[in-house]
Amino acid sequence: MSAADPQRRTWLKAGALLPLAPSVALAASASTLPAMPARPAGTPQEVAADESYWRQIAAQYDITNEVTMLDNAFWGSMSRPVLAAYERHVAEVNRGNSYYGRTTFPPAYHAARRRAAQSLGVAEDEIVFTRGATEALQILISGYNQLKPGDVVLCADIDYDNMITTLHWLKQRRGVEVVSIAMPEPATYQAVIDCYAQAMARYPKLKMMLLTHVNHRNGMVLPVAEISRMARERGIDAIVDTAHGFGQLDMRIPDLQADFAGINLHKWIGAPIGVGAIYIRRGRVQDIDPYMGEKDRGDIRTRVHTGTINFAAYLALPLALDLHEQIGVAYKQARLARLRKRWLDAVRDLPRLELLASDDPRLSSAIASFRLRGRGAMADNVVLARRLLKEHGVFTVERDGLAAGACVRATPSIFTMEAEVDRLSAALRSVAA
Ligand SMILES: Cc1ncc(COP(=O)(O)O)c(C=O)c1O
Repeated sequence: MSAADPQRRTWLKAGALLPLAPSVALAASASTLPAMPARPAGTPQEVAADESYWRQIAAQYDITNEVTMLDNAFWGSMSRPVLAAYERHVAEVNRGNSYYGRTTFPPAYHAARRRAAQSLGVAEDEIVFTRGATEALQILISGYNQLKPGDVVLCADIDYDNMITTLHWLKQRRGVEVVSIAMPEPATYQAVIDCYAQAMARYPKLKMMLLTHVNHRNGMVLPVAEISRMARERGIDAIVDTAHGFGQLDMRIPDLQADFAGINLHKWIGAPIGVGAIYIRRGRVQDIDPYMGEKDRGDIRTRVHTGTINFAAYLALPLALDLHEQIGVAYKQARLARLRKRWLDAVRDLPRLELLASDDPRLSSAIASFRLRGRGAMADNVVLARRLLKEHGVFTVERDGLAAGACVRATPSIFTMEAEVDRLSAALRSVAA
């Protein structure tokens, strides 16, 4: 690859290669960097109601129109500029092969880590990249070495399936007792906190617990900071699953008040699939085992070893974070809250429909769920989601695992228009009539 290569010159101009002097490259390319549409003046709530602004945002995404897409919790689509940068990076990595991987990539990767740390509100040495929240949380849960036989670890019915599985594996691995609690339904802010407080009182040997910040079943936001603080007072560690929290809610990692967290950057940040991170508060890294025999340098980077990674995905992350911040997370949160409230308010009067969605904004995320009253079997909810799709073209997904029963989950994104959530409420009015 020579400097005379026109393609290389284009990329350099676009700031795609940032390895040796990122600030210089950024400064040189500032005017050519992709940008999101300018946000109108106003509070997050005022801007949330500005359908024409959000239509401009939606135009930055290429989303299927085969269905009304209301399952945006699996992962978050990249915006067009991020997709274009990602594709450029794929070509760049493919072309340069190991010459690129061994020379240009390492400093660019470090720059991406620095950029992610800044966005997460943590120090660079407190995070390490993973392929997603699953890898991050499995490492934290399995590697947490402060447990001795007879200790108790805790999970809840709202936690993610694989994380519950990993927690149960600690029984074999560390000889601990695994206990599970169920969230009240309907939930209130205080009832949820009380639930964890009661568990802490009931299990004096409780040493570690999994807290899911925004769960993937009904989208409830857990009061993580309050629960973590209570836990800390009792010498209990919290490992926080913020796969859905960071990027969707106006918060940064220290707000969780927990020393360990698993993070996704391919859900609500819109980075390419395959980008997540582990957070370990400075001073706690020794409490997570080094990864399968890695030499323990007290460096968080020895806690994961993915092998050859999808280079391009990490290279596109800084742009995804820039564009996310241009919209502003408080504005994203307000828009998502408005969309959620809009479809929920339109179906609240249906006696046959049970909504798993608190009115309390502190407990609310983009995600909310429902089931037909008395129909908590998974099979019923598979049928319900299928009817919404087949009869109304609305794509949602059934979710199992809540103690109170299965449900169907609906998740708008920032490219969802009000007319689309209206299609969901119209469909629900029809099936729950
Ligand atoms: C609450 C929660 N935790 C963890 C994960 C795992 O994320 P990933 O599959 O991106 O690793 C998910 C995925 O949907 C999730 O919803």
